[in-house]
Amino acid sequence: MVQNYRIFPCIAALLVVCLMPAPAHALFGGSKKKKEEKAGALLFRDKGCAHCHGVAGVGGKKGPTLTSIRKDKTWTPSHMSDQILNGGKKMPPFSDSVTDDELAQLIAYLRAKHKPAPPPGTEPQTTAAQR
Ligand code: HEC
Repeated sequence: MVQNYRIFPCIAALLVVCLMPAPAHALFGGSKKKKEEKAGALLFRDKGCAHCHGVAGVGGKKGPTLTSIRKDKTWTPSHMSDQILNGGKKMPPFSDSVTDDELAQLIAYLRAKHKPAPPPGTEPQTTAAQR
């Protein structure tokens, strides 16, 4: 009879290492708020938001401008998270593609007074109406 029990501790150790979450925000410098805003800028571009809402949320053919949303009192953080998670009439829901942390970062970005620019990327730039 071959006993395989000796292999289990190795597998268990591997699982622990693999499942350890890498803190994404550790990649960014600055204050916690600034870090969240920067992470949000990156997500805004990489999750496809910019595809509809334009680069930096200036607005595009498929989505409205989001640059002044921070001044709109009807757009509370919970209203924003509802919009992002559940989508809207023409906006798809993102509940399956953003984590709680990412959601908070996106909202921090949308509410930022001075929206940080994400580092240059390979995403195609949408030709949105420039301010
Ligand atoms: C397929 C295009 C599309 C994508 C992708 C998209 N949106 Fe939208 N978004 C819209 C449209 C269209 C609206 C207008 C309301 C509606 O139809 O849902 C909207 C509305 C919003 C609003 C409310 C603003 C307002 O005045 O109505 C917020 C906030 C928002 N989007 C954030 C995001 C974020 C953050 C992402 C990425 C995670 C994203 N959107 C991705 C199309 C899109």
